[in-house]
Amino acid sequence: MLLGVNIDHIAVLREARKIADPDPLDALSICKRAGADQITIHLREDRRHIQDADAKNIITLSSLPVNLECAIEPSMIDIACSLKPHRVTLVPEKREEVTTEGGLAVDTENPKLKVAIQRLQHEEIEVSLFIDPVLEAVQASYDLGVEWIEFHTGKYANIYAMLYTQLSKTHHSIPELELPRNTLKQMLNDELSCLRLLSGDAVELGLRVAAGHGLTMHNVKEIVEIETIEELNIGQSIIARSVFTGLEQAIKEMKAIMQRK
Ligand code: PXP
Repeated sequence: MLLGVNIDHIAVLREARKIADPDPLDALSICKRAGADQITIHLREDRRHIQDADAKNIITLSSLPVNLECAIEPSMIDIACSLKPHRVTLVPEKREEVTTEGGLAVDTENPKLKVAIQRLQHEEIEVSLFIDPVLEAVQASYDLGVEWIEFHTGKYANIYAMLYTQLSKTHHSIPELELPRNTLKQMLNDELSCLRLLSGDAVELGLRVAAGHGLTMHNVKEIVEIETIEELNIGQSIIARSVFTGLEQAIKEMKAIMQRK
């Protein structure tokens, strides 16, 4: 199973001081050495972490394929088309959100979305849509002719956290109720079944399937068991762990857990 390491949070740390360190560019060789398969970065419209120069340098200098996440705004698509990363993942963006809170509204009639996909594909950039695990979004992604979909696993991660660590909701809207354990277990199983079923459907349609958001060393195993999911993009938990273990070790640990039997 492929691992895309999302290195945005290295830039988060740098931007906290608006200085030069730590430089996400320095992560490239470490990610490669540790066995990562892809570098993932999100150029947000508010530039809160990755900056234009980071995106340019990373895409130019990375020996691993780069997956650039961005909004469907024409100005972002201009940048993506000029930088020509290996893949662009189109994500919804709200300025006030802490992180990407849900999947893209995949409306096949949305001219902005259609044009964004056409322009990127014209530059021979693979296009992925970051979607919630719902059938309509899978079907619409297929209809739009993209190569990849990435399932938003935020809801799964939140249920998992509520069940096993009693954390309250972090970044996906599920009711903040004190739910009984059995209900949470059922919700977790339902979410996993949904991811399993829909990734199977997507692969049958000829789509390639990635997943990401909120995945950690603890909750990733169940996702790894879904064989039709080809790739995971993981950021927060790897960078958080790297504070204590170093980046190379944190990636190696995640890769080890992602080994399929
Ligand atoms: N995939 C996509 C499309 C994302 O937007 C993000 C968050 O930037 C991730 C994966 C990684 O999520 P996390 O940082 O929670 O691992």
